[in-house]
This record gives sequence, structure tokens and C-alpha cells, in this order.
Amino acid sequence: MNIVVTGGAGFIGSNFVYYLLNNRPSDKVICFDKLTYAGNLETLEPAQSNKNFKFIRGDIANRQDVETLFENEKPDVIVNFAAESHVDRSIEEPELFLKTNIIGTSILLDACKKFGIKRFHQVSTDEVYGDLPLDRPDLFFTEESPLKPSSPYSASKTSADLLAMTNWRSSKVPVTISRCSNNYGPYHHPEKLIPLVITRALNDKSIPVYGTGLNVRDWLYVEDHCSAIDLIIRDGKAGEIYNVGGHNERANIEVVETILHILGKPESLIEYVTDRKGHDLRYAIDPHKIETELGWKPKTKFEEGINKTVSWYLENKDWWQKIISGEYQNYYQKMYGNR
Ligand code: NAD
Ligand code: DAU
Repeated sequence: MNIVVTGGAGFIGSNFVYYLLNNRPSDKVICFDKLTYAGNLETLEPAQSNKNFKFIRGDIANRQDVETLFENEKPDVIVNFAAESHVDRSIEEPELFLKTNIIGTSILLDACKKFGIKRFHQVSTDEVYGDLPLDRPDLFFTEESPLKPSSPYSASKTSADLLAMTNWRSSKVPVTISRCSNNYGPYHHPEKLIPLVITRALNDKSIPVYGTGLNVRDWLYVEDHCSAIDLIIRDGKAGEIYNVGGHNERANIEVVETILHILGKPESLIEYVTDRKGHDLRYAIDPHKIETELGWKPKTKFEEGINKTVSWYLENKDWWQKIISGEYQNYYQKMYGNR
């Protein structure tokens, strides 16, 4: 199969590229990426010599780029990771989120209609369901939970999901959607909590914890997310939504303390800062459907995954030091300077 991975130079997309190259040697993998601040060709360096891999620079929100991609590569499957992905940035500047996440997805769906496709897979997020209260550990997001996004990012992802489902209903574009919880692992951009903590702690810098630190996220090692998507594009049913998560809920402060402990750094680095606006309290996925219908099971528990992740950042300092030395410094100052 010819599989186009949009956003394959980012965190999860690049891990998915490697997952396919390692596990599906008869597939051709075409990464289509705009290379925004979050895309990094160095991440894909080891893939460039693989005869099954090709990189194309392009924008999913540019119709010409997308139609040329379909004409030249004749994809069987599109897996759409391409997105603006950071909640904090979306609260400050929503417009690009609407353009890439909504218009971009719509343009990809139009091309699927025009040129034909065996499967369009939309990589969505548990954030479309909004949040759960902290005092009801019995509640989980199912595929039937109401859509109640809290940020411009999650509103744009919800819109993309609705566009995907309406294209299935009205034009029979064979779409599937996965809604996954928080990922962590190699190649995660240092603007996000786990790599931010690791990279700042290694530089003995303060660790900004929003609000009380008690907000809960449901962490999934990135390779487990990749195996779920791989299964959905092959065995999942068109028109279906699959929640993906592994029951690894942790309060943010626990995550921060765990990382500091692994690195042997003091908790005095922790600095409580002003909360994120509209900060979602708790995410928790019920993965019953993908487990029972497709036989998916995550392999990596949080304790193992976080140790592997910290080791990766220790062994790949060049990768993240380049990222945090450039424009990222201005970003950090703007977001955290007066917090
Ligand atoms: P990321 O920000 O690390 O990577 C996004 C990639 O998309 C980058 O390579 C960027 O260059 C590319 N991109 C951005 N705009 C583009 C455009 N207009 N055209 C083509 N490429 C473009 O994001 P991530 O954390 O890897 O997330 C990937 C996807 O998974 C997103 O759709 C996100 O909503 C979803 N998701 C993420 C998580 C998570 O915990 N990170 C969890 C669930 C779902
Ligand atoms: O749940 C899936 C989502 O997970 C994805 O859809 C998003 O693309 C991805 O970015 C992630 O969103 P979060 O907002 O949960 O991730 P983030 O790493 O930004 O924050 C995780 C938690 O840590 C959140 O409760 C906010 C908090 N936080 C974050 C940062 C960056 C802090 O306390 N301090 C920080 O500096």
C-alpha cells in the first residue's frame, strides 16, 4: 500500500513513520509535512535512506499541494496527523489552528472524494470530549460521550472529526477516526509538559506547573498509539470512531516529581504558575471498543515508558538542544515570562 502520513515530521507522525518502516516492509511511506516550527527533518534523517520512504514538503491547507500529492503518489491510505497541536498556543492565536486543522482536513477529504481512497484516517484527540471532574474516578470518555471542547485547539479538532464523519455519510469517503489520550516518548517537542520538564530539569531551570498541579492526564507511550492506528487502518471499519488509551492516569505534579526523581534533580525546581485558561481537569479514556473489536492492547506501562523517554532525551541532547536554542526562547519568554 502507498500510505501518506501527513505531519510525519512531528512527534507522533514521525514515530508512526518508523513504526511502518519497521513493521510493514511491503508498504511505501510518504511523509507530507509543511515543516512548521513543530516539524523537524532531522527527526526523519534515519528514514531518508530507506527505499520505502519519501518526504514531500507541502501544506494540507493548500489545495494545489494536496492535489499534486494525490496525482503523483496515488495514495491508498491517508493518515492525517498534520495539525497545530499545542493548546496554549491556540488560546493566544487561534486562527492558524482553524486553517490547518479544519480547512486542511477538509481539503484532504475533498481530494479523497476527487481521486478516490481506500481509507482516510483522522488522528483525533480525547480533548474533543472536554474534561471529567476530579472527584468522579468512575467516569471515562467513551465514543458516545458528548463533544464539549474547551480550547480553540480542541474545537478545531472536533470540527475536523465532524467533517470527516459528514464526508463518510454524504459521499462515502471511507473514514476512520481515533481519539487518543496524551502521548509521550521520543521526538516530543519541548513545548509540551513531559519533554519541557526533562529538558529544563537537565539545565537546572525552574519547572512551571500550572494551577494546583492536580489536573490529570491519561498517558500513553507513543508506540502504543502507533500500533492502534496501524490496526485501525487495516482492520477498523469505515465510519467508526475508536478511543485509544491505556489507563495510565497521573496528576501533573506526580509526573513532574517522577521525572525529577529519575534525573536526581531537586523538587525545589518546581514553580507553581498561573493556570492555563479553561484548563481541562481530567482526561480518561475507556478503550473497551478498540480492545474488544480489534484486539488492541497497549504494551508499555507508565513507569517503563517514562524511564525510556528520559533515557532517550539524555541520549539525544543534540536533537532538543537545537530546538530550544532558537525561536523557542522567544516563545518561552512570551508564554512564561510574566506568568
Ligand atoms: P506535532 O505538533 O508534534 O506535529 C505536527 C506536525 O504537523 C509537524 O510536523 C508540522 O510541521 C506538521 N504540520 C502542521 N501544519 C501543517 C500543515 N498545514 N500541512 C502539513 N503539515 C503540517 O503534533 P503531535 O503531537 O505529533 O500530534 C499529531 C496529531 O495527533 C495531531 O493531529 C494531534 O491533534 C493528535 N494528537 C496528539 C496527541 C498528543 O499527546 N501529542 C494526543 C492525541 C492526538
Ligand atoms: O489529550 C491529548 C492532547 O494532549 C493532545 O490532543 C494535544 O495535542 C497535546 O498537546 C496534549 O494536550 P495537553 O494540553 O494535555 O498537553 P500539555 O503537554 O500541553 O500539558 C499537559 C498538562 O500539563 C496539562 O494539564 C497542562 C500542564 N502543563 C503543561 C505545560 C506545557 C503544566 O503544568 N506546565 C507546562 O509548562
